[in-house]
Amino acid sequence: MGFFCSLTFSIQFLLLFSSSLFTNCFTLNDLTTTHQHECHQHESNALLSFKQSFFISKSASYNPFSYPKTLTWIPTTDCCSWDGIECDELTGHVISIDLSSSLLYGSMDPNSTLFSLVHLQSLDLSDNDFNHSQIPAWIGDLSQLRHLNLSQFGETTLSGEVPTQISHLSNLLSLDLRSYINPQFDFPLINCLQLKESTLQSLIQNSTRLEQLRLNFVTISSSLPHTLTNLTSLQKLSFRHCELHGEFPIGIFSLANLTSLNFGENQNLQGTLPASIGNLTNLALLALEDNSFHGEIPRSLFGLEKLVDLFLYSNFFEGRLALDMFFKLKMLNTLDLSVNKLSLFSQNRAVNVTILPPIQWLGLSQCNLNGEIPTWIMNLTTLNHLDLRGNNLQGEIPYFLFKLENLTGLDLGRNLFEGQIELEMLSKLKKLTVLGLGGGNKLSFLEGNNTSIVTFPSQIQFLDLRSCNLVHFPNFIQHLQELTDLYLSNNSIKTIPSWLWNKTTLQSLDISNNLLIGKIPALICNLQSLGFLDLSSNNLIGRIPSCLGSFSRSLHILRLAGNKLIGNIPQNYAKENALQLIDFSSNKLCGQLPRSFVNCRMLELLDVSHNHFNDSFPFWLGSLPNLKLIFLRDNKFHGAIKCPFKCTFPQLRIIDLSQNDFSGELSSETIKNFKSMTLSNTSHQVQFKDDVYQLQHTWVDLSLFVIRMHNKGVVMKYLGRQYFHYMIAIDLSCNKIFGEIPDIMGSLNGLVVLNLSNNMFTGSIPSSFGKLSNLEALDLSANSLSGEIPQQLTELTFLEFFNVSFNNLSGPIPENRQFSTFQDNSFEGNNGLCGFQLLNKCEDRSKLPLPTIPDGDQDSESGSFFELYWMVILIGYGGGLVAGLALGNAFAGDVYRLLKRIF
Ligand SMILES: *[C@@H]1O[C@H](CO)[C@@H](O)[C@H](O)[C@H]1NC(C)=O
Ligand SMILES: *[C@@H]1O[C@H](CO)[C@@H](O)[C@H](O)[C@H]1NC(C)=O
Ligand SMILES: *[C@@H]1O[C@H](CO)[C@@H](O)[C@H](O)[C@H]1NC(C)=O
Ligand SMILES: *[C@@H]1O[C@H](CO)[C@@H](O)[C@H](O)[C@H]1NC(C)=O
Ligand SMILES: *[C@@H]1O[C@H](CO)[C@@H](O)[C@H](O)[C@H]1NC(C)=O
Ligand SMILES: *[C@@H]1O[C@H](CO)[C@@H](O)[C@H](O)[C@H]1NC(C)=O
Ligand SMILES: *[C@@H]1O[C@H](CO)[C@@H](O)[C@H](O)[C@H]1NC(C)=O
Ligand SMILES: *[C@@H]1O[C@H](CO)[C@@H](O)[C@H](O)[C@H]1NC(C)=O
Repeated sequence: MGFFCSLTFSIQFLLLFSSSLFTNCFTLNDLTTTHQHECHQHESNALLSFKQSFFISKSASYNPFSYPKTLTWIPTTDCCSWDGIECDELTGHVISIDLSSSLLYGSMDPNSTLFSLVHLQSLDLSDNDFNHSQIPAWIGDLSQLRHLNLSQFGETTLSGEVPTQISHLSNLLSLDLRSYINPQFDFPLINCLQLKESTLQSLIQNSTRLEQLRLNFVTISSSLPHTLTNLTSLQKLSFRHCELHGEFPIGIFSLANLTSLNFGENQNLQGTLPASIGNLTNLALLALEDNSFHGEIPRSLFGLEKLVDLFLYSNFFEGRLALDMFFKLKMLNTLDLSVNKLSLFSQNRAVNVTILPPIQWLGLSQCNLNGEIPTWIMNLTTLNHLDLRGNNLQGEIPYFLFKLENLTGLDLGRNLFEGQIELEMLSKLKKLTVLGLGGGNKLSFLEGNNTSIVTFPSQIQFLDLRSCNLVHFPNFIQHLQELTDLYLSNNSIKTIPSWLWNKTTLQSLDISNNLLIGKIPALICNLQSLGFLDLSSNNLIGRIPSCLGSFSRSLHILRLAGNKLIGNIPQNYAKENALQLIDFSSNKLCGQLPRSFVNCRMLELLDVSHNHFNDSFPFWLGSLPNLKLIFLRDNKFHGAIKCPFKCTFPQLRIIDLSQNDFSGELSSETIKNFKSMTLSNTSHQVQFKDDVYQLQHTWVDLSLFVIRMHNKGVVMKYLGRQYFHYMIAIDLSCNKIFGEIPDIMGSLNGLVVLNLSNNMFTGSIPSSFGKLSNLEALDLSANSLSGEIPQQLTELTFLEFFNVSFNNLSGPIPENRQFSTFQDNSFEGNNGLCGFQLLNKCEDRSKLPLPTIPDGDQDSESGSFFELYWMVILIGYGGGLVAGLALGNAFAGDVYRLLKRIF
């Protein structure tokens, strides 16, 4: 979704912005010429002093038609004639100030003279730069205000809390405190203004005449007051990205005069669409995307003839819908239903193509579309964007798509298409900037011989040719001057042409899972705009160019896993770098982990497993504020797992130190550093809309992200999204750690997987483990633990895998439903244990169990050998990425049950 999302928003906001702004400034210019009265001296003075509190700065306004209106404000002239000022014809009082896009820069004075203009009815200060100052409380004194516009671009202007006094403006007809996304800057925008729920309540109570209330990107962080439905004059309501949650007041759909409802991107806003929505006959915009709406989309919605934009993507809407129902929406320009639980079908033949709406944007990604691409799409001649990614569409890609000359974006990835696509077929799509064919399709992309005479769409910025049966690096890519994102994974490419290293516009480069040979050239460091680099799963040899740690300030993702790389990894990581994910796993790399990793303040995942690194426990990584996942598996890390001084891993969720030479005792102090593995009230069950995870500012599509646990042919999967949302794990297996298991480990109640197997732990199993209420897999096998299995473990209601085999445990196996599902191999090799699972049945519980003879058998060949490995597969995709993480674990036991539960 990433790329498409951000593009939609930018376009949409630009349109909204330009319409309101331009109409305002032109109509008010006309008005200023019709004044009759001279303005009042004190008002003139107040305006001049307001003017004086700001500089004129070219960068203060975003609108390309901005100009410094206050330059005409000269003391000797009538203020009613000044640019942006309107006076009352009878009284001469200033009633309107329009300083929108006036290049004003400076802080808003809390005691500004502006607030002495008590006759003001309209105040528009939008699109200036008020240098993060607050909205002055005196605003509440302008009691005559009907229109107040303080909307702003990006994060540059007003901030802080909206004063409660704003609710004193009981005559308001329109209030606009929106922030806009500046398309030139990165998505997402950070909210700067906050509005307290109580202030919103008061505002609604007092300003009963409101027709427009627009608060996009103002943090409200509460549910929507139901009293909103009292504001019967409302026409435009915009609360995009306000951190709203709770139930959407259904009464809002009864406000008959609504033309625009924009509540997108509130994530936890819940609700349903009532049939009465069909009464909103003036509705032109309905944007509810990226929320938690559910239920069916009522048929009455398709009678709203004035509807222009319909954004419902990324919710839990369900039901079956015929696509041609949308054809009744005669004005429909944008339709995005992607990523819901909908099943769309198209009745190919019944469509009267002469009545197709003027659709420009059609987003039907992950909509369970079957069959072939409907032929009526050929008659949507106005179409700009067509996103059909992630459906079950099949057959050949119809040629008519390549005749839709207005297309700028075409994404057909992750379907079941087959056949050949020849470069020449694209030659009519001259405006194309996004082309997605890859991932899951059985397409072959052919360049043809005459590439020099083909006029391919040279403006392509985003190109996804994953799994397209490429055997050579496509040559035409050389001519794509504006290319930013290139995805060529899962092909059979052997060599990278050297001209690729001149493509300095590249932001994403994914050539993973190919047959690349040779060394990584140092020239790669020319690509200084790169944010995402994935060369994993190839046959690359030699050393990693040392520049690779710090060649690009924007590099988020660096993946070189699964090659034959040798030597040290890059030692220098620049301060303030953007790295979020570093994966060097499964190579032949050696040496120590570079201490300059501590400069990677954004780092969330570090994977160096399956290499020859030789180092002590990297406690110093604990200072990284965002680090969540650490994989050091299968190396030569050694010494005790401890910090020489107090250290914390503030966000740690998975730590895998298995198959190393760690020794020493595990101290309580060390475990205390993993505070982030305790949960207060995180819900175990999370609902997912999409295989998308957000790594700070990067979208990661996790459709291939699985944890795999297998033994004797049984495979258990955690899908990536489940993984990322609730997986918390410690794996210390296959080391030489001794001493007792610290009791405090039982306080890490977020743990889902705990593997301490194949070590030299002694003492008893802490009864505190009974508090690990999220635990699903516990492996303590092949240690020297003694005593009984604590009865408290029967409280672990999620426990699906349990193994204590090959220890010195004794006494009865606890009895409850959970434990009865674990089979004998979970307990074998403990001579003193008894239970119905074992040959050794327990005597009457009142009798003491017989003393046991320690066995000490730790032979890894004995059938209880554990191999647990984590593997990260990450494939770039979609303006973001597709990431995959797989944990393989050779666990014994009854895992079918767990499998069943997860699917
Ligand atoms: C604003 O005026 C009030 C009194 O009218 C005064 O107490 C306050 O310090 C002034 N604030 C600023 C920033 O000038
Ligand atoms: C409503 O506005 C008046 C002034 O117009 C103010 O005194 C009053 O406190 C406001 N009520 C609320 C609930 O904010
Ligand atoms: C506003 O709505 C609330 C509940 O929704 C209701 O109790 C109240 O009477 C309404 N106020 C007015 C003025 O209609
Ligand atoms: C709705 O709009 C109509 C037409 O503009 C107007 O006459 C009517 O008063 C409005 N209703 C409300 C409740 O404001
Ligand atoms: C709104 O729509 C519902 C169902 O479509 C209908 O029963 C109801 O009468 C309508 N209400 C108004 C005020 O038109
Ligand atoms: C298709 O729609 C057009 C315009 O509404 C109409 O004139 C024509 O008869 C329709 N064709 C069929 C086959 O219904
Ligand atoms: C639909 O598109 C096809 C192919 O471009 C064309 O032949 C046909 O005339 C179009 N139909 C209408 C009604 O425009
Ligand atoms: C492209 O769109 C314009 C209107 O935006 C339309 O006039 C033109 O016919 C379209 N081109 C094609 C090939 O359909």
